[in-house]
Amino acid sequence: MPGLVIVGSQWGDEGKGKVVDLIAEQADAVIRFQGGNNAGHTIVRDGEVFKFHLVPSGILYPGKVCAIGNGVVVDPQVLTEELDALRRRGLDIGGLKVSANAHLIMPYHLLLDHAGEAKLGEQKIGTTRRGIGPCYADKAARLGIRVQDLLDEKILKQKITAAMEPKRLSLRPFAKDPMIDLHAMTEQYRTFGARLEPHIADTAPIAWRLLEQDRLVVFEGAQGAMLDIDHGTYPFVTSSNPVAGAACVGAGVGPTDIDHVWGIAKAYATRVGAGPFPTELEDELGDQIRAAGGEFGTTTGRARRTGWLDLVALRYATRVNGLTGLVVTKLDVLTGIEELKVATRYTAPDEASFEEFPYHQSVLHKARGEYDSLPGWDEDITGARALEDLPTNARAYLDYISDYLAIPIVMVGVGPGREEIIWTGAAELLSPAAADLTSP
Ligand code: GDP
Ligand code: IMO
Ligand code: MG
Repeated sequence: MPGLVIVGSQWGDEGKGKVVDLIAEQADAVIRFQGGNNAGHTIVRDGEVFKFHLVPSGILYPGKVCAIGNGVVVDPQVLTEELDALRRRGLDIGGLKVSANAHLIMPYHLLLDHAGEAKLGEQKIGTTRRGIGPCYADKAARLGIRVQDLLDEKILKQKITAAMEPKRLSLRPFAKDPMIDLHAMTEQYRTFGARLEPHIADTAPIAWRLLEQDRLVVFEGAQGAMLDIDHGTYPFVTSSNPVAGAACVGAGVGPTDIDHVWGIAKAYATRVGAGPFPTELEDELGDQIRAAGGEFGTTTGRARRTGWLDLVALRYATRVNGLTGLVVTKLDVLTGIEELKVATRYTAPDEASFEEFPYHQSVLHKARGEYDSLPGWDEDITGARALEDLPTNARAYLDYISDYLAIPIVMVGVGPGREEIIWTGAAELLSPAAADLTSP
């Protein structure tokens, strides 16, 4: 130990990439444990922007162990392209490992994701169309193809044949698509296998060894709690578990290996794709926040829906993740808004009021936030590096959140750059290891 899990606690895009990059400096390994290249994690260093979809957000430190765990679904084309792009930028990717047990996104998964969305029409989920759902479905159906299968042509061919068999009907419209020709697919995936072979490993023991030596291992989540297939706004969710518990399953460690769980939340809320969003602002203020926060998807470029901070959902996320600390990002985006609102209850159309996140979909889909108001601030806060540098109202806003959730705020983001961060000192309360994080 210590193991530190970093998870999104809203609908994704909370700023996980930036936070993991900052913590990775002190960590011995960073491990992704679920999701795939539906994720888009941004790091801004010295004005240079890096966007990672599969590679863990610790890769900018030369030689850092960065593992893609067994729980991730890997599109080998995307991974090889991402590695090539890093190499072209002169970065050392020697520390990158990919679990031999991770499942592969196949060309037919992409086709099925597109077709599934098209079939749903108006009811569509708004997936990233990266084949995530169909790939996890095959994993559960025991028809998945894993990274290790790339290294054996015979097995690969057999498994592709077996996986496509039950999909014959749904793939019929694509029968002539060269993407899903058995031989072409086998050839292409064998090439990916040859390229990835130096990185393929049994990744769980990497974590075990480091944890045994008391080194810091960061488990990097993708998406967010409200997109969790069990705990999120089903069916408008992703097909994995972005909650902290999945770090154990998706990286191969036990619950006792996890010491801290830090949730990332924006100072407001966004959601990309369809589904319930009780605090959504469908007005000019929503547009203003979208523009100020650059709220356009890192993966698909879609405009993100925006809204007020939803403390009902965030308290729920605090519980399902067992958060020990909260990182509030993008506080700077709220600068200049005179009156800030935070939802502390939901109202349903029949006037019923909910203090807790409602489990029932018919309530949730129609619920609207009931708000407390807090005064805003006008001062530019991007230069703040300590809580004391913030205007009183900004501090009161943070205190309100922390009190409501009953957890400490460990970091506050005041701009996209890696230096635009406040370490609150609460991190030091968590453990000596966490205290190390805050020292330069
Ligand atoms: P992730 O998926 O959770 O890693 O988040 P994304 O990278 O998809 O989206 C977060 C966006 O907000 C990125 O463009 C980041 O550069 C940016 N960002 C992160 N933290 C802050 C912050 O504190 N302030 C501002 N203004 N932008 C931030
Ligand atoms: P990061 O890690 C925000 C959303 C999609 C869609 C739903 C299902 O960058 O926070 P999928 O392709 O996973 O089947 O889509 O989940 N979604 C995300 N939204 N951030 C993400 O990742 C997301 N990954 C998936 O928009 O609503
Ligand atoms: Mg993102």
